[in-house]
Amino acid sequence: MSKKMVCFCQDLTDADIVRAIKEGYDHLETLKRFTGAFMGPCQGKMCAANVVKLYAETTGHPVEDLRIPTMRPPVEPISLGSLAPEKGGDDDA
Ligand code: FES
Repeated sequence: MSKKMVCFCQDLTDADIVRAIKEGYDHLETLKRFTGAFMGPCQGKMCAANVVKLYAETTGHPVEDLRIPTMRPPVEPISLGSLAPEKGGDDDA
């Protein structure tokens, strides 16, 4: 039996997702929280379509009726330097 990667960030295969759904995590939001899909560094950009399609096939829900779980910020990567205070401020003592 071949293994198909569904979420590359979280190392989730199709078998992991199907097993979670059969264990009762049969809503996309609870599936997200249980498996960590959509929660890796890409915030689901690479796996959302895979997970939603597999979820639809496993549960019988029509894909068009499903909503991709909410992506939480930071959706776009930012540099560490952008978080550092600017030099020359009052805190430079
Ligand atoms: S591939 Fe799933 S969160 Fe990045």
